[in-house]
Amino acid sequence: MITETKRLYLREITQADYAVIAKILQDDDAMFAYNGAFSDEEVARWFDNLMTQYQTRGFSLWAVVLKETNQVIGQCGLTLQQLEVETVTEIGYLFDRDYWHQGYAIEAAQACKVYAFNVLGIDRVYSLIRETNISSMNVAIRNGMTVRARLVRERWGAELFYYAFAVDRS
Ligand SMILES: CC(C)(COP(=O)(O)OP(=O)(O)OC[C@H]1O[C@@H](n2cnc3c(N)ncnc32)[C@H](O)[C@@H]1OP(=O)(O)O)[C@@H](O)C(=O)NCCC(=O)NCCS
Repeated sequence: MITETKRLYLREITQADYAVIAKILQDDDAMFAYNGAFSDEEVARWFDNLMTQYQTRGFSLWAVVLKETNQVIGQCGLTLQQLEVETVTEIGYLFDRDYWHQGYAIEAAQACKVYAFNVLGIDRVYSLIRETNISSMNVAIRNGMTVRARLVRERWGAELFYYAFAVDRS
């Protein structure tokens, strides 16, 4: 186990979680900020990338498990992202739509923030959020983050706007 909250625990994703992770990544509504549902090949690449990050860095997105039922309800964790010339640590979250609007994402994101500060010793964590993704911004705000920058990223053949939310250890 990586960390836990009142209702959840976070652990590394394994092959046994493939179907539930694919369900999230292939849901058009959940993936609107990522340009729509992933293909089977994109899911496989996402999965490979998670496994590589666990091996090389020791962290990545983790499985969010509901203590009450032992079900995997989403992914939340820490990844490295490029912010202009700087590499920053990001809290990321993608949840199964069946489990939205119950406060699980904020609960998991808060635990990842504490993990980043206390276990990894990182002084600032970010969430880079597409300007249309209001639910994600609300999670960031409830996680104590404020907007630090607005940026343009080249994604899927277009220039898209993102906000860089962040919170400092102090
Ligand atoms: C981003 C995402 C994880 C947010 O999910 P969410 O369900 O809105 O967030 P939470 O689980 O924290 O739930 C918050 C809601 O639960 C409500 N809630 C209910 N019970 C609660 C409780 N016990 N504690 C806290 N909030 C609670 C809150 O009031 C809030 O309501 P709202 O949806 O009306 O604002 C989800 O939309 C998602 O997976 N999106 C697709 C992937 C994505 O875009 N990820 C972000 C990329 S930057």
